[in-house]
This record gives sequence, structure tokens and C-alpha cells, in this order.
Amino acid sequence: MSLVKSFLEKGILLSPEVVKDSVLLEKLSQIEDKHLEGTPIINKAFLEKLGLLSEKKPRKVNILFSYNKQPGKITVNDFVNYFNKRFEVLSAFLRQRQELQNVISIGRVKTVKSSKERVAIIGLVYDKSITKTNKYVIKLEDPTGVINIVISNKYKDAYESAKELVLDEAIGVEGICLGGAVFANRIFVPEIPLTKELRKSPEEECLAILGDPHFGSKAFLKKEFDDFIKWINQEKGNKEQREIASKVKYLVIIGDLVEGVGIYPFQEKDLEIKDIKEQYDLFTEYLKKIPEDIIVLVCPGNHDAGRISEPQPPLLHKYAESLQKLPNVHLLSNPAFINIGATEGFPGFDLLLYHGYSLTYYADNVESIRSKGGQKRPDLIMKLLLQKRHLAPTHTSNLYVPDSEADPLVIDRIPDFFITGHIHRLSVSNYKNITLINASCWTDITEDQEKRGLEPQPAKIPLINLKTREVKIINFLKE
Ligand SMILES: [Fe+2]
Repeated sequence: MSLVKSFLEKGILLSPEVVKDSVLLEKLSQIEDKHLEGTPIINKAFLEKLGLLSEKKPRKVNILFSYNKQPGKITVNDFVNYFNKRFEVLSAFLRQRQELQNVISIGRVKTVKSSKERVAIIGLVYDKSITKTNKYVIKLEDPTGVINIVISNKYKDAYESAKELVLDEAIGVEGICLGGAVFANRIFVPEIPLTKELRKSPEEECLAILGDPHFGSKAFLKKEFDDFIKWINQEKGNKEQREIASKVKYLVIIGDLVEGVGIYPFQEKDLEIKDIKEQYDLFTEYLKKIPEDIIVLVCPGNHDAGRISEPQPPLLHKYAESLQKLPNVHLLSNPAFINIGATEGFPGFDLLLYHGYSLTYYADNVESIRSKGGQKRPDLIMKLLLQKRHLAPTHTSNLYVPDSEADPLVIDRIPDFFITGHIHRLSVSNYKNITLINASCWTDITEDQEKRGLEPQPAKIPLINLKTREVKIINFLKE
């Protein structure tokens, strides 16, 4: 405020949009007085004349994958083709490994009664069990047949990998044949290659992540969300926080925009707004308050209206009509793959966006994650999915539409950012130069969550400086 005062003392007024822009004020304070002489008011037009306003360049968004295919009648064949397509893509990733160069089909291995020569096979995990002597037995399937894989704790790495295996994921196995089974020495998952570079933008701009606002719920944290809106308009926060707000150029909203209706039994008692369209209208009113030069990327979640089987199409239905009219909002499918921030000579950042319905399954069913906190460790779950190169490998971990032409949940490209939500807990981590972010939420704990043992971490915004890749968290939660 002292800067504003010093201009007033010189008899110069500042227009409201300049007063609330801390970055502009900072720049103004560095101008020599002779450039301001005779100026009654400083507004954006005046600053433009002085060359202090960098002209607004259109920010680049490139939608690399957003699913909007209408499914027809689903037959058994669609499921068969869907898993075949998954096998094709993931086995190709596995074959890139030196150890899996000479893979043979399961059908052929079954004809070898026993051999001391090592064999390598690739398949999908059809079943997993543990014997009384603590050996894992995996039924592995490829298009030519099914075979038993035995993994004993004599091979420590293979045994540790076996603990993490989930049904229907693709793996490679190296071992010896004995009595019609393969005794594994090594297990391979498709993995993320080590060659991913940590990209940094030549421009100083920020990406903000917002998840699970649940508009329409009684538990919606209105005061906190109002503060977020004020902050992003540079009307709230200390000098540094306002300055960061001015750098936000991209905002991802990772699903569960509204609370929805009929999502769980007796949900009605938790609803502040009982009409789904009105829930979206309110969300749209808030989005209108976000500065228009910020690009907003919006995915649906399992509370949103429309098909909840994955891939979920973008919110282009009648309930979200108000949302479709906003010029800076891109409505995407769940999952989606987007490139942002590309400039001449810089390829930009690839974002893998997934609401995260499957996360809870792996929190509960993978022992190494369950023992370290389960749903409290979205970082571990996200890493697991990246290693398996699939967003929901196990058939029962999500609801899905089997696309017979491709499996849209395969992670076939390596992102710079992997962003999820759904479990309402904030987490920021890094895996092989990929930034993993699970978003916070904007609801207080509900009875339903309490029953499910969830502990949300609401009203936090992770902000990534794309120039440095540094992540800051802004906490809006009122104690
Ligand atoms: Fe949610």
C-alpha cells in the first residue's frame, strides 16, 4: 500500500486493476519520475505505452488425447480384443529390454517338459496365489495359452516384485522350465525408462492443480474456495503469494466438479443443492471469476454427471451447458493427455490427467502400499501405476468400457506431470523426472468418508513453477 500512497503524494492516481496487480506495482516503483511527469492516472493503457505490459500471447494447449467415442453394444469379443490390444502395446514395451529380446510364446513353452536353458515369456497375470511354503504361483496368459509361474524367495528381487503383482497386468518372466511350469529368476514390469529428461520452461509461468471441489455438497468449503478465488485474482495473500498468483497461466481441475446426485445411498441428506444442473451452474459462476488469461483444463470424476465408466467422455451434456460457454475452459475426457506451454524451441509439458477412481483398489490390495498407509500414500499408488504403465490394470479396479481398437488406459506416452485426485489427499512426489501430484479437495469430512476411514486434506493448491519445476503449496484451510 505504501507504493500506492507514494504515487498519490505525487498527485498521480492508480486505476483499480493496477492497484491490485502486485507485479505491475513492483515494475512501476522502478520507473524514473521523469517518465511519469504530467500523468494524472496510471492505467493499463498508459503502462502499455511505456512498454511495461508484455502483450498477452495466446497460450498453447495441445489436446493429444481426449476420448469421445460413443460405445455401441458391448460383446464378449470386445473384452477379448481390448485385452489383446493391451497385451500388444505393453508386451512391445517389455520387449525393449535386453533380457526379453528372445521371448517365446506360452504355447511353445508348454511343449518343453524341462530345460536348463533360460526361457523368457510375456503375458497378463490371470491369477495369483501363495502356497503353504510361501511360494507365489502366478498363472500367466498370452494369446497362445496359460502357464504357471513359480516364484520362491530364493530369488529376492523376483519375490519382491511378485508381492506387488496385481491381476491383469502385463509382465515379463525369465526362468527355467520344469514339469510344465516356469520357475522364475526375474520378473519385469513395463516401467518408465530412465531417459526421461526434466523439462523446464523458458518462461516464468505456473501450473495450479485443483481437485474434487464437489459443488452442491453441504460439506463444500465455501469460505476457503472464496479465498482461493480472491487469491487467484491477486486480491488476497502476502506480496509473494500475490506475485505467484499473477504467474498462474494454467489450472487443472481433476474431477468431481460437483457432488452429483444418487452417487451413494441416502446422499440426498448431504446435498446443499439437489439439482445436478444447478450444481454445475454454481461451479460455472465460480469459474467465471478466474482470470480469463488462465487456461482451465477440466476432467470429469465419478461424482460428475454422464457416463462414469472409463474413459469418461468430456462434460458436453446438457447438465453442464453453462460450463461449455466459458472461452478459457477446455473440457476433456478422463483420462486425458495434454501438452501445455510449448513455445518456439521448447516442446512444452505433457500432462497425464486421471481422476483416480482405481487408486483406492491398489491402496487396499497391494500389500506394500497398504502397510505404508494405503490411501494416505497416493504417491506410492501413482508410482505403481506408472511402473505397470496402466491406470487401472485390474479388471475390477474401475468401471470401464472395453474399446476393441485400443486400451485407452494404457500409459503409452511418458508424461512430465501425472495428475490425479479422488482420494482427497494432497501429495507431491517425483518418479524418474515425472512430477506426481494428487490433488487436495474442497469438502470437509463427511459421514460417508468417516465410515470409509478417509482423512481428507482439503483446501490446498499445489503450484508448479514451470521454469524451475519447484512446487509450492498454498493452504486456504481455515482452522
Ligand atoms: Fe471426490
